[in-house]
Amino acid sequence: MEYAIEVFNLTKVYRSEGKEIRAVDNLNLKVEKGSIFGLLGPNGAGKTTLIMMLTGLTLPTGGSGKVLGHDIVKESLQIRRKVGLLPEGFGFYDHLTAEENLNYVAALNDIPKDERKKRIEDALASVGLLDVRDRKFGGYSRGMRQKLGIAQALLKNPELLIFDEPTAGIDPEGARAIRELVLKLNREGKTIMLSTHLLFEVGPVCDSIAIMNFGRLMLQGKVRELLEKLMAEEGYKIKIEFSGEVGAFAEALSSISGVKSVRLEGKTAHVVAEKDVRAEIGKLSTKYSIQILTLELQQPSLEDLFIKYYRREGLSYA
Ligand SMILES: Nc1ncnc2c1ncn2[C@@H]1O[C@H](COP(=O)(O)OP(=O)(O)OP(=O)(O)O)[C@@H](O)[C@H]1O
Ligand SMILES: [Mg+2]
Repeated sequence: MEYAIEVFNLTKVYRSEGKEIRAVDNLNLKVEKGSIFGLLGPNGAGKTTLIMMLTGLTLPTGGSGKVLGHDIVKESLQIRRKVGLLPEGFGFYDHLTAEENLNYVAALNDIPKDERKKRIEDALASVGLLDVRDRKFGGYSRGMRQKLGIAQALLKNPELLIFDEPTAGIDPEGARAIRELVLKLNREGKTIMLSTHLLFEVGPVCDSIAIMNFGRLMLQGKVRELLEKLMAEEGYKIKIEFSGEVGAFAEALSSISGVKSVRLEGKTAHVVAEKDVRAEIGKLSTKYSIQILTLELQQPSLEDLFIKYYRREGLSYA
């Protein structure tokens, strides 16, 4: 497996007024190339500090890391050339148009003059700002500003994109547009790391996620595997709808190996089992000549996973 990001015991300790703040504390993390990775955590969890270390904007106080194969301390210049970063609170000039702002960033990034126009147009088209490129940044809405920040990150045509809170302060429609953009960029082959404190805003597009709190990763893994694990822990919930009389069949459901409970509600049965027993239910219905209308495994959502996690940790979930 190739990794876009690998981090080993990475640590950042800030010292202020004689106190130590372990902003990132012995963190171990791997992000697969070609994936969308979501870094979740409340304010102050250490997300921005981690991102700054990955992109050479601040030095670690311990541990090590590689981004696209380059050491984050010794080769940060190569990293900055290959990584498109949307930092927290990106600053553009109010009195310049979107296009002029990007021209300025392109010059700072040493993008050859003869390529700039095309790259800027491509980046603006990608985020849907081509039509408003002549408008001054000062007149841009919050969502447009964020999109221009993303366009700026795309200018280098980077392999890896790191977005720090891309949906912060954006309305639901704008957040959806950003999610769609992330999926599109990922389909084009880019690895994407997103940080957020609002799970529902980016969670649905992530292949893998990590929850960070107090500088540490509390939970990490592929979304599919985490949900599978949750089903194994909480039980597989299966909903059956049928027509006709079901009395004996409903009773027989409890005898299927692995079934923990059966609840009957009119012509619907809710089964909780230790595994996916849909095939066994199908066989049983044939035996009892019962017509099944729907037989559905109710997948838990990322939301369910987080609520459970936050409850276990005694945290509040927003
Ligand atoms: N330059 C600094 N000097 C001292 N402490 C800092 C500095 N930067 C960050 N911290 C502290 O490190 C911790 C992690 O901060 P960080 O900005 O990385 O969190 P975050 O997860 O990005 O939070 P948010 O969701 O609010 O953006 C916080 O306790 C913060 O106060
Ligand atoms: Mg932050």
